[in-house]
Amino acid sequence: MFVFVTFQTRWPILALQDPESSHELSVWMAKNGLTPIDRVAENPALKVNVFGKEFSEILGEEQRSSVTNIAGNPLGLAAGCDKHGEAVKGFMNMGFGFVEVGSVTPQPQPGNDKPRMFRLTEDQGVINRYGFNSHGAEEVFERLKAIRESGQELRGNLAINLGKNKTADAIPDYVYGVKKFGELADFLVVNISSPNTPGLRQLQSRKELEGLISAVMKVRNESCPKVPLLVKIAPDLTDTELKEICQVATKMKVDGMVVTNTTISRPESLTGAAKEETGGLSGLPLKDMSTEVIRKVYKLTGGKLPLIGVGGVGTGQDVYDKIRAGASLVEMYSRLAYEGPWSPPKIKLELSRLLKADGFENVADAIGADAKK
Ligand SMILES: Cc1cc2nc3c(=O)[nH]c(=O)nc-3n(C[C@H](O)[C@H](O)[C@H](O)COP(=O)(O)O)c2cc1C
Repeated sequence: MFVFVTFQTRWPILALQDPESSHELSVWMAKNGLTPIDRVAENPALKVNVFGKEFSEILGEEQRSSVTNIAGNPLGLAAGCDKHGEAVKGFMNMGFGFVEVGSVTPQPQPGNDKPRMFRLTEDQGVINRYGFNSHGAEEVFERLKAIRESGQELRGNLAINLGKNKTADAIPDYVYGVKKFGELADFLVVNISSPNTPGLRQLQSRKELEGLISAVMKVRNESCPKVPLLVKIAPDLTDTELKEICQVATKMKVDGMVVTNTTISRPESLTGAAKEETGGLSGLPLKDMSTEVIRKVYKLTGGKLPLIGVGGVGTGQDVYDKIRAGASLVEMYSRLAYEGPWSPPKIKLELSRLLKADGFENVADAIGADAKK
Protein backbone atom coordinates (compact mmCIF):
# COMPACT_ATOMS: atom_id res chain seq x y z
CA MET A 1 0.00 0.00 0.00
CA PHE A 2 2.95 2.31 0.42
CA VAL A 3 3.26 2.91 -3.28
CA PHE A 4 0.16 5.06 -3.09
CA VAL A 5 2.07 7.54 -1.02
CA THR A 6 5.05 7.72 -3.29
CA PHE A 7 4.16 11.26 -4.23
CA GLN A 8 4.29 12.35 -0.64
CA THR A 9 7.37 14.21 0.46
CA ARG A 10 7.05 12.66 3.90
CA TRP A 11 7.93 9.32 2.27
CA PRO A 12 11.00 10.59 0.40
CA ILE A 13 12.57 7.19 -0.11
CA LEU A 14 9.42 5.89 -1.78
CA ALA A 15 9.17 8.99 -3.94
CA LEU A 16 12.36 7.92 -5.66
CA GLN A 17 10.37 5.59 -7.85
CA ASP A 18 9.14 7.09 -11.12
CA PRO A 19 5.39 7.86 -11.21
CA GLU A 20 4.46 5.34 -13.88
CA SER A 21 6.17 2.50 -12.01
CA SER A 22 4.39 3.60 -8.81
CA HIS A 23 1.12 3.56 -10.69
CA GLU A 24 1.74 0.06 -12.06
CA LEU A 25 2.76 -1.22 -8.65
CA SER A 26 -0.37 0.27 -7.05
CA VAL A 27 -2.60 -1.51 -9.55
CA TRP A 28 -0.67 -4.74 -9.00
CA MET A 29 -1.15 -4.45 -5.24
CA ALA A 30 -4.89 -3.75 -5.60
CA LYS A 31 -5.11 -6.74 -7.93
CA ASN A 32 -3.36 -9.00 -5.47
CA GLY A 33 -5.32 -8.03 -2.37
CA LEU A 34 -2.50 -5.99 -0.85
CA THR A 35 -4.47 -2.76 -0.50
CA PRO A 36 -6.66 -1.91 2.51
CA ILE A 37 -10.22 -3.17 2.78
CA ASP A 38 -12.78 -0.64 3.96
CA ARG A 39 -14.75 -2.49 6.65
CA VAL A 40 -16.62 0.52 8.00
CA ALA A 41 -20.37 0.05 7.66
CA GLU A 42 -21.70 2.32 4.94
CA ASN A 43 -23.73 5.29 6.14
CA PRO A 44 -27.26 5.03 4.65
CA ALA A 45 -27.16 8.81 4.17
CA LEU A 46 -24.55 8.26 1.44
CA LYS A 47 -26.88 6.08 -0.59
CA VAL A 48 -27.76 7.75 -3.85
CA ASN A 49 -29.88 6.67 -6.78
CA VAL A 50 -28.54 7.78 -10.14
CA PHE A 51 -29.78 6.85 -13.60
CA GLY A 52 -31.78 4.01 -12.15
CA LYS A 53 -28.75 2.44 -10.50
CA GLU A 54 -28.82 2.49 -6.79
CA PHE A 55 -25.38 3.18 -5.43
CA SER A 56 -26.31 1.05 -2.48
CA GLU A 57 -27.93 -2.28 -1.75
CA ILE A 58 -26.80 -3.69 -5.04
CA LEU A 59 -26.54 -7.14 -3.57
CA GLY A 60 -29.43 -9.44 -2.72
CA GLU A 61 -30.23 -10.05 0.96
CA GLU A 62 -28.40 -13.40 1.01
CA GLN A 63 -25.16 -12.05 -0.39
CA ARG A 64 -25.43 -8.93 1.67
CA SER A 65 -25.27 -10.86 4.91
CA SER A 66 -22.11 -12.60 3.76
CA VAL A 67 -20.02 -9.47 3.28
CA THR A 68 -18.85 -6.97 5.84
CA ASN A 69 -19.79 -3.90 3.93
CA ILE A 70 -21.94 -2.92 0.98
CA ALA A 71 -20.72 -0.23 -1.37
CA GLY A 72 -23.46 2.33 -1.23
CA ASN A 73 -21.78 5.63 -1.67
CA PRO A 74 -21.20 8.29 -4.30
CA LEU A 75 -17.38 8.19 -4.30
CA GLY A 76 -15.84 6.50 -7.34
CA LEU A 77 -12.39 5.84 -8.78
CA ALA A 78 -11.88 7.91 -11.93
CA ALA A 79 -10.73 6.53 -15.28
CA GLY A 80 -7.02 6.22 -15.90
CA CYS A 81 -6.09 4.37 -12.71
CA ASP A 82 -7.32 0.87 -13.60
CA LYS A 83 -6.97 1.39 -17.34
CA HIS A 84 -7.15 -2.29 -18.23
CA GLY A 85 -9.65 -3.59 -15.66
CA GLU A 86 -7.02 -5.54 -13.75
CA ALA A 87 -7.92 -4.65 -10.17
CA VAL A 88 -11.63 -3.81 -10.06
CA LYS A 89 -12.35 -5.83 -6.92
CA GLY A 90 -9.33 -4.48 -5.05
CA PHE A 91 -10.33 -0.88 -5.73
CA MET A 92 -13.96 -1.52 -4.79
CA ASN A 93 -12.78 -3.09 -1.54
CA MET A 94 -10.93 0.14 -0.75
CA GLY A 95 -14.39 1.66 -0.30
CA PHE A 96 -15.25 3.10 -3.69
CA GLY A 97 -18.91 2.90 -4.62
CA PHE A 98 -17.91 2.48 -8.25
CA VAL A 99 -14.82 2.05 -10.39
CA GLU A 100 -14.41 3.46 -13.89
CA VAL A 101 -12.15 1.18 -15.92
CA GLY A 102 -10.33 2.59 -19.00
CA SER A 103 -10.02 4.36 -21.24
CA VAL A 104 -10.13 1.21 -23.35
CA THR A 105 -9.38 1.46 -27.08
CA PRO A 106 -10.70 -1.09 -29.61
CA GLN A 107 -7.21 -2.29 -30.62
CA PRO A 108 -4.27 -2.59 -28.21
CA GLN A 109 -1.87 0.37 -28.46
CA PRO A 110 1.25 1.40 -26.56
CA GLY A 111 0.45 5.07 -25.96
CA ASN A 112 3.07 7.81 -26.00
CA ASP A 113 6.78 7.40 -25.28
CA LYS A 114 7.96 7.41 -21.67
CA PRO A 115 8.29 9.41 -19.51
CA ARG A 116 4.63 10.39 -19.75
CA MET A 117 3.52 10.96 -16.17
CA PHE A 118 4.95 13.65 -13.88
CA ARG A 119 4.46 14.57 -10.25
CA LEU A 120 3.94 18.14 -9.15
CA THR A 121 4.42 17.29 -5.50
CA GLU A 122 4.42 20.88 -4.21
CA ASP A 123 1.09 21.46 -5.97
CA GLN A 124 -0.44 18.04 -5.20
CA GLY A 125 -0.89 17.74 -8.93
CA VAL A 126 -0.05 15.36 -11.76
CA ILE A 127 0.63 15.93 -15.45
CA ASN A 128 0.13 12.97 -17.77
CA ARG A 129 0.38 12.36 -21.49
CA TYR A 130 -0.19 8.62 -21.54
CA GLY A 131 -2.06 8.85 -24.85
CA PHE A 132 -4.46 5.94 -24.27
CA ASN A 133 -2.06 3.09 -23.65
CA SER A 134 -4.51 0.20 -23.69
CA HIS A 135 -4.46 -3.60 -23.62
CA GLY A 136 -7.29 -3.29 -26.15
CA ALA A 137 -10.98 -4.14 -25.97
CA GLU A 138 -10.70 -7.90 -26.42
CA GLU A 139 -8.33 -8.45 -23.51
CA VAL A 140 -10.17 -6.09 -21.17
CA PHE A 141 -13.49 -7.64 -22.19
CA GLU A 142 -12.31 -11.16 -21.30
CA ARG A 143 -10.98 -9.94 -17.96
CA LEU A 144 -14.22 -8.20 -16.98
CA LYS A 145 -16.38 -10.99 -18.33
CA ALA A 146 -14.53 -13.44 -16.07
CA ILE A 147 -15.43 -11.28 -13.06
CA ARG A 148 -19.07 -11.09 -14.10
CA GLU A 149 -19.21 -14.84 -14.74
CA SER A 150 -17.48 -15.77 -11.49
CA GLY A 151 -20.85 -15.54 -9.78
CA GLN A 152 -19.35 -13.25 -7.20
CA GLU A 153 -21.26 -9.99 -6.99
CA LEU A 154 -19.12 -6.88 -7.18
CA ARG A 155 -19.27 -4.61 -4.19
CA GLY A 156 -19.72 -1.50 -6.28
CA ASN A 157 -20.81 -0.47 -9.75
CA LEU A 158 -18.59 -0.99 -12.79
CA ALA A 159 -18.22 1.80 -15.32
CA ILE A 160 -16.32 1.31 -18.56
CA ASN A 161 -14.70 4.34 -20.20
CA LEU A 162 -14.31 4.14 -23.97
CA GLY A 163 -11.50 5.68 -25.99
CA LYS A 164 -10.42 5.54 -29.63
CA ASN A 165 -7.24 4.34 -31.29
CA LYS A 166 -4.75 7.04 -32.21
CA THR A 167 -5.12 6.87 -35.99
CA ALA A 168 -8.61 5.40 -36.30
CA ASP A 169 -11.87 7.19 -37.15
CA ALA A 170 -13.76 8.20 -34.03
CA ILE A 171 -17.32 7.10 -34.70
CA PRO A 172 -16.62 3.44 -35.62
CA ASP A 173 -14.30 3.09 -32.61
CA TYR A 174 -16.84 4.37 -30.08
CA VAL A 175 -19.66 2.41 -31.68
CA TYR A 176 -17.49 -0.71 -31.38
CA GLY A 177 -16.83 0.06 -27.70
CA VAL A 178 -20.51 0.47 -26.88
CA LYS A 179 -21.39 -2.81 -28.62
CA LYS A 180 -18.52 -4.67 -27.02
CA PHE A 181 -18.89 -3.51 -23.42
CA GLY A 182 -22.62 -2.83 -23.12
CA GLU A 183 -23.33 -6.24 -21.63
CA LEU A 184 -20.69 -5.92 -18.91
CA ALA A 185 -20.98 -2.31 -17.79
CA ASP A 186 -23.25 -0.74 -15.19
CA PHE A 187 -22.69 2.39 -17.22
CA LEU A 188 -20.55 3.51 -20.15
CA VAL A 189 -18.54 6.68 -20.54
CA VAL A 190 -17.63 8.08 -23.95
CA ASN A 191 -14.39 9.95 -23.38
CA ILE A 192 -13.92 12.79 -25.86
CA SER A 193 -11.84 15.02 -23.63
CA SER A 194 -8.37 13.53 -23.10
CA PRO A 195 -5.78 16.03 -24.31
CA ASN A 196 -3.28 13.40 -25.44
CA THR A 197 -4.96 11.92 -28.52
CA PRO A 198 -4.76 14.18 -31.59
CA GLY A 199 -8.14 15.59 -32.58
CA LEU A 200 -10.05 13.94 -29.73
CA ARG A 201 -11.24 17.07 -27.99
CA GLN A 202 -12.52 18.48 -31.29
CA LEU A 203 -15.26 15.87 -30.96
CA GLN A 204 -16.74 18.23 -28.36
CA SER A 205 -17.66 20.78 -31.04
CA ARG A 206 -21.37 20.86 -31.79
CA LYS A 207 -21.22 19.42 -35.29
CA GLU A 208 -18.88 16.54 -34.50
CA LEU A 209 -20.62 15.84 -31.22
CA GLU A 210 -24.04 15.52 -32.83
CA GLY A 211 -22.73 12.94 -35.31
CA LEU A 212 -20.92 10.96 -32.65
CA ILE A 213 -23.65 11.03 -30.03
CA SER A 214 -26.40 10.08 -32.45
CA ALA A 215 -24.29 7.09 -33.60
CA VAL A 216 -23.43 5.84 -30.10
CA MET A 217 -26.95 6.39 -28.76
CA LYS A 218 -28.38 4.46 -31.68
CA VAL A 219 -26.18 1.45 -31.04
CA ARG A 220 -26.73 1.73 -27.29
CA ASN A 221 -30.51 1.74 -27.81
CA GLU A 222 -30.27 -1.30 -30.05
CA SER A 223 -27.71 -3.42 -28.21
CA CYS A 224 -27.93 -2.49 -24.52
CA PRO A 225 -30.87 -0.12 -23.95
CA LYS A 226 -30.70 -0.32 -20.17
CA VAL A 227 -27.07 0.71 -19.86
CA PRO A 228 -26.69 4.44 -19.15
CA LEU A 229 -24.30 6.25 -21.50
CA LEU A 230 -22.41 9.31 -20.31
CA VAL A 231 -20.08 11.75 -22.06
CA LYS A 232 -16.89 12.97 -20.41
CA ILE A 233 -15.94 16.58 -21.07
CA ALA A 234 -12.89 18.83 -20.62
CA PRO A 235 -12.56 21.70 -18.15
CA ASP A 236 -11.16 24.01 -20.83
CA LEU A 237 -14.34 24.70 -22.81
CA THR A 238 -15.70 28.19 -23.42
CA ASP A 239 -19.17 29.08 -22.14
CA THR A 240 -20.51 28.86 -25.70
CA GLU A 241 -19.01 25.40 -26.20
CA LEU A 242 -20.42 24.24 -22.87
CA LYS A 243 -23.85 25.53 -23.77
CA GLU A 244 -23.77 23.69 -27.10
CA ILE A 245 -22.63 20.45 -25.49
CA CYS A 246 -25.44 20.66 -22.95
CA GLN A 247 -27.95 21.30 -25.72
CA VAL A 248 -26.73 18.30 -27.73
CA ALA A 249 -26.61 16.03 -24.65
CA THR A 250 -30.15 16.98 -23.66
CA LYS A 251 -31.54 16.72 -27.19
CA MET A 252 -29.96 13.33 -27.78
CA LYS A 253 -31.00 12.05 -24.34
CA VAL A 254 -27.53 11.20 -23.10
CA ASP A 255 -27.86 9.80 -19.56
CA GLY A 256 -25.29 12.02 -17.89
CA MET A 257 -21.93 13.75 -18.09
CA VAL A 258 -18.58 13.24 -16.41
CA VAL A 259 -17.19 16.66 -15.53
CA THR A 260 -14.17 16.99 -15.97
CA ASN A 261 -11.10 15.48 -17.55
CA THR A 262 -7.60 16.95 -17.04
CA THR A 263 -6.83 20.54 -18.08
CA ILE A 264 -4.35 21.77 -20.67
CA SER A 265 -4.17 25.09 -18.83
CA ARG A 266 -1.40 25.84 -16.34
CA PRO A 267 -2.53 27.99 -13.41
CA GLU A 268 -0.08 30.72 -12.36
CA SER A 269 0.07 29.19 -8.90
CA LEU A 270 1.95 26.06 -10.04
CA THR A 271 5.39 25.65 -8.56
CA GLY A 272 6.34 22.04 -9.44
CA ALA A 273 9.39 21.69 -11.67
CA ALA A 274 7.42 19.61 -14.18
CA LYS A 275 4.74 22.26 -14.69
CA GLU A 276 5.75 22.94 -18.30
CA GLU A 277 5.49 19.28 -19.36
CA THR A 278 2.99 18.68 -22.16
CA GLY A 279 -0.16 16.85 -21.12
CA GLY A 280 -3.22 17.09 -18.91
CA LEU A 281 -3.00 18.55 -15.43
CA SER A 282 -5.00 16.96 -12.61
CA GLY A 283 -5.12 16.95 -8.83
CA LEU A 284 -5.48 19.92 -6.49
CA PRO A 285 -4.80 22.65 -9.12
CA LEU A 286 -7.82 21.37 -11.08
CA LYS A 287 -10.22 21.22 -8.12
CA ASP A 288 -11.98 24.58 -8.27
CA MET A 289 -11.86 24.75 -12.06
CA SER A 290 -13.78 21.47 -12.38
CA THR A 291 -16.25 22.45 -9.64
CA GLU A 292 -17.06 25.63 -11.58
CA VAL A 293 -17.71 23.61 -14.74
CA ILE A 294 -20.04 21.30 -12.77
CA ARG A 295 -21.89 24.38 -11.51
CA LYS A 296 -22.30 25.72 -15.05
CA VAL A 297 -23.39 22.39 -16.55
CA TYR A 298 -25.89 21.84 -13.73
CA LYS A 299 -27.39 25.24 -14.45
CA LEU A 300 -27.35 24.82 -18.23
CA THR A 301 -29.17 21.48 -17.97
CA GLY A 302 -31.62 22.69 -15.35
CA GLY A 303 -30.33 20.08 -12.91
CA LYS A 304 -32.00 17.36 -14.98
CA LEU A 305 -28.87 15.58 -16.22
CA PRO A 306 -26.98 13.44 -13.67
CA LEU A 307 -23.39 14.64 -13.37
CA ILE A 308 -20.31 12.85 -12.13
CA GLY A 309 -17.98 15.46 -10.70
CA VAL A 310 -14.24 14.84 -10.93
CA GLY A 311 -11.12 16.93 -10.50
CA GLY A 312 -8.83 17.46 -7.55
CA VAL A 313 -10.86 15.62 -4.93
CA GLY A 314 -8.95 14.57 -1.83
CA THR A 315 -11.25 15.29 1.13
CA GLY A 316 -14.88 14.98 2.16
CA GLN A 317 -15.20 18.75 1.79
CA ASP A 318 -14.08 18.49 -1.85
CA VAL A 319 -16.72 15.83 -2.54
CA TYR A 320 -19.36 17.88 -0.74
CA ASP A 321 -18.48 21.03 -2.74
CA LYS A 322 -18.93 19.15 -6.02
CA ILE A 323 -22.25 17.65 -4.85
CA ARG A 324 -23.52 21.07 -3.80
CA ALA A 325 -22.43 22.43 -7.20
CA GLY A 326 -24.56 19.78 -8.93
CA ALA A 327 -22.76 16.42 -9.02
CA SER A 328 -24.74 13.29 -8.15
CA LEU A 329 -21.59 11.18 -7.92
CA VAL A 330 -17.96 12.22 -7.46
CA GLU A 331 -14.74 10.55 -8.56
CA MET A 332 -11.10 10.92 -7.60
CA TYR A 333 -7.76 9.72 -8.87
CA SER A 334 -4.65 11.94 -8.61
CA ARG A 335 -4.92 12.80 -4.93
CA LEU A 336 -5.35 9.15 -4.02
CA ALA A 337 -1.63 9.03 -4.61
CA TYR A 338 -1.03 11.81 -2.09
CA GLU A 339 -3.69 10.90 0.47
CA GLY A 340 -3.10 7.14 0.44
CA PRO A 341 -5.25 4.05 -0.18
CA TRP A 342 -6.95 4.42 3.19
CA SER A 343 -8.47 7.75 2.21
CA PRO A 344 -11.88 6.59 0.81
CA PRO A 345 -13.37 5.69 4.25
CA LYS A 346 -11.96 8.92 5.69
CA ILE A 347 -13.47 10.98 2.86
CA LYS A 348 -16.85 9.28 3.31
CA LEU A 349 -16.82 9.97 7.04
CA GLU A 350 -16.02 13.63 6.44
CA LEU A 351 -18.80 13.82 3.85
CA SER A 352 -21.30 12.24 6.28
CA ARG A 353 -20.42 14.83 8.91
CA LEU A 354 -20.75 17.74 6.49
CA LEU A 355 -24.16 16.56 5.30
CA LYS A 356 -25.36 16.20 8.87
CA ALA A 357 -24.01 19.58 9.93
CA ASP A 358 -26.02 21.24 7.15
CA GLY A 359 -29.16 19.28 7.96
CA PHE A 360 -29.18 17.02 4.88
CA GLU A 361 -30.57 13.56 5.57
CA ASN A 362 -29.20 12.16 2.35
CA VAL A 363 -26.65 12.99 -0.36
CA ALA A 364 -29.53 13.35 -2.82
CA ASP A 365 -30.91 16.32 -0.87
CA ALA A 366 -27.60 18.17 -1.24
CA ILE A 367 -27.19 17.76 -5.01
CA GLY A 368 -27.14 21.22 -6.57
CA ALA A 369 -27.90 22.86 -3.20
CA ASP A 370 -25.77 25.89 -4.13
CA ALA A 371 -27.94 26.57 -7.19
CA LYS A 372 -31.06 26.51 -5.04
CA LYS A 373 -29.80 29.11 -2.57
C1 LIG B 1 -2.33 9.32 -15.05
C2 LIG B 1 -3.72 9.66 -15.48
C3 LIG B 1 -4.31 8.93 -16.51
C4 LIG B 1 -5.61 9.24 -16.91
N1 LIG B 1 -6.18 8.51 -17.91
C5 LIG B 1 -7.47 8.75 -18.27
C6 LIG B 1 -8.10 7.95 -19.27
O1 LIG B 1 -7.53 7.02 -19.80
N2 LIG B 1 -9.39 8.27 -19.59
C7 LIG B 1 -10.08 9.29 -18.99
O2 LIG B 1 -11.26 9.50 -19.31
N3 LIG B 1 -9.50 10.04 -18.03
C8 LIG B 1 -8.23 9.80 -17.66
N4 LIG B 1 -7.64 10.55 -16.69
C9 LIG B 1 -8.40 11.69 -16.10
C10 LIG B 1 -9.09 11.33 -14.79
O3 LIG B 1 -10.07 10.35 -14.98
C11 LIG B 1 -9.76 12.56 -14.17
O4 LIG B 1 -10.77 13.03 -15.03
C12 LIG B 1 -8.77 13.71 -13.92
O5 LIG B 1 -7.51 13.22 -13.56
C13 LIG B 1 -9.27 14.63 -12.81
O6 LIG B 1 -9.43 13.96 -11.60
P1 LIG B 1 -8.29 13.92 -10.45
O7 LIG B 1 -7.84 15.33 -10.24
O8 LIG B 1 -8.99 13.35 -9.25
O9 LIG B 1 -7.21 13.04 -10.96
C14 LIG B 1 -6.34 10.29 -16.27
C15 LIG B 1 -5.74 10.99 -15.23
C16 LIG B 1 -4.46 10.70 -14.83
C17 LIG B 1 -3.84 11.47 -13.70
